[in-house]
Amino acid sequence: MKITIVSDEQQFDRIAAWRVIGEILNKPNAVIGLSTGQTTKNLHHIIREIYQLHPFEVKDVTFFGVDEVTNVPREYAGACYTMLKTQLIDALGIDDDHFIMPPTLSDDFEKECHIFQDKLESKGGIDLQLLGLGTNGHLGFNQPGTPFENETWLSAMDEVLEARIRKETNTPPEKALGGLTLGIKNIMHARKIILVAKGASKADIVKEMLSGPITTANPSSILQLHPNCEFLLDEEAAEKWQITHKK
Ligand code: GLP
Repeated sequence: MKITIVSDEQQFDRIAAWRVIGEILNKPNAVIGLSTGQTTKNLHHIIREIYQLHPFEVKDVTFFGVDEVTNVPREYAGACYTMLKTQLIDALGIDDDHFIMPPTLSDDFEKECHIFQDKLESKGGIDLQLLGLGTNGHLGFNQPGTPFENETWLSAMDEVLEARIRKETNTPPEKALGGLTLGIKNIMHARKIILVAKGASKADIVKEMLSGPITTANPSSILQLHPNCEFLLDEEAAEKWQITHKK
């Protein structure tokens, strides 16, 4: 396991941004999976800034999001599509053929899961997947209890996020909100993964992810078995793991 711990937040974002740019420079037609959330927001901005200062070739790169909220308008600021568009995709001038996202609205999400997965496979599969980490260990929208062999599917989001999105979109309780997500199996098939986690609120789950049992109760624990996964952590997120692993 490659574990990178940095003390400075800017350095954290810069390292993550350069991992993405490095992938693009090495493989101009790379397929790169992004994640939304507080942890990845700044690293997206840094990629933009570097691109604006020193443009690099992106016309053959394909980006996609690991997950999407369902049953909200795509233009809603909390939809992953809109977050990724505004944080990164538009600034790089990526066209629609090179930004793959499942729709937020559909009559048949099962079909959409297949379409999303097939599109990624037709591009050659995932070269690099950036992943955030839920405080309960979720990856994408794969909540605790998700079977490791799941492929792209329609899951549920955690209660706190669901309550927030419901409020922000005025979605009534009778209307279901969901999370369409790559499954754990798809994530594990990525050729490279970078898991990013910042802050003290992630310290317990980071310790479990790195040294706890590999169990569906903590989806992130499966990453211990990935042959090419880097865990990029700040000091606060790494603290509890470091205490138990001091020589
Ligand atoms: C949401 C997303 C996940 C993301 C997670 C982390 O649940 N669906 O893909 O990894 O948030 O969010 P944050 O970085 O804000 O902690």
